[in-house]
Amino acid sequence: MADYPYKRVMLKLSGEMLVGDQAMGIQPDVIGRFADEVKDLHSTGVEIALVIGGGNIFRGLAGASRGMDRTHADYMGMLATVINGLALQDALEARGVYTRVMSAISVNEICEPYIRRRAMRHLEKGRVVIFAGGTGNPYFTTDTAAALRAAEIQADVILKATKVDGVYDRDPAIHDDAVRFDSVTYLEVLQRGLKVMDSTAVSLCMDNDIPIVVFNLSHEGNIKRVLQGEEIGTRVYSAAN
Ligand code: GTP
Repeated sequence: MADYPYKRVMLKLSGEMLVGDQAMGIQPDVIGRFADEVKDLHSTGVEIALVIGGGNIFRGLAGASRGMDRTHADYMGMLATVINGLALQDALEARGVYTRVMSAISVNEICEPYIRRRAMRHLEKGRVVIFAGGTGNPYFTTDTAAALRAAEIQADVILKATKVDGVYDRDPAIHDDAVRFDSVTYLEVLQRGLKVMDSTAVSLCMDNDIPIVVFNLSHEGNIKRVLQGEEIGTRVYSAAN
């Protein structure tokens, strides 16, 4: 195995990106590309835990903003992450990568319940572990689920794969002169309200000293580039390090 800086990674994939150019759902070539990237990463020998969002199917907060009860909407969002998790498992196993889906909500007929020690064993055996169902609680995002599970399984880093090139001082979609940070501290993210992850997720990472790398998954090969130490995206870290 090459000398990678991380032994165990938590990869947070955007559910929203699975839509591709469709109105909603899962575009087969997008999930196929995600699976190719994860397979490539897996071939380096790095242990991979994974959380995928559900925004391509249903987003709790969006449901609540349209008048749904927030808790109810969040449970629907959790189910969406189970669907995405199963789709990704299928795509990975079609490529010969053994995976286990573990859910925070009980859907035992379709995947395993989340049991931390069991998740650790799966990782040690080289299986990709997909954590589905968020944290199992409403009011928490899938970013927070990634931060929580990363802390529990002692992941070395959270790789947040998204649609933008990193963390900017202002929304780059609105401001042409927005500046991307190469690195930024957790505190600065929280104090300036920078859009990386929600504050619960960032606080969890800060308290447990888990670095976050935010990078663009639209560019092929980026996950591996981050792992090889290439300076792409934005690294969120503690000022002490
Ligand atoms: P080892 O104990 O390391 O061999 O792990 P394993 O996951 O291969 O063993 P296990 O016998 O627990 O699981 C065999 C298969 O059943 C795997 O595909 C698991 O994901 C699946 N499985 C295990 N528990 C559950 C469950 O509660 N629900 C569902 N749907 N599948 C499960």
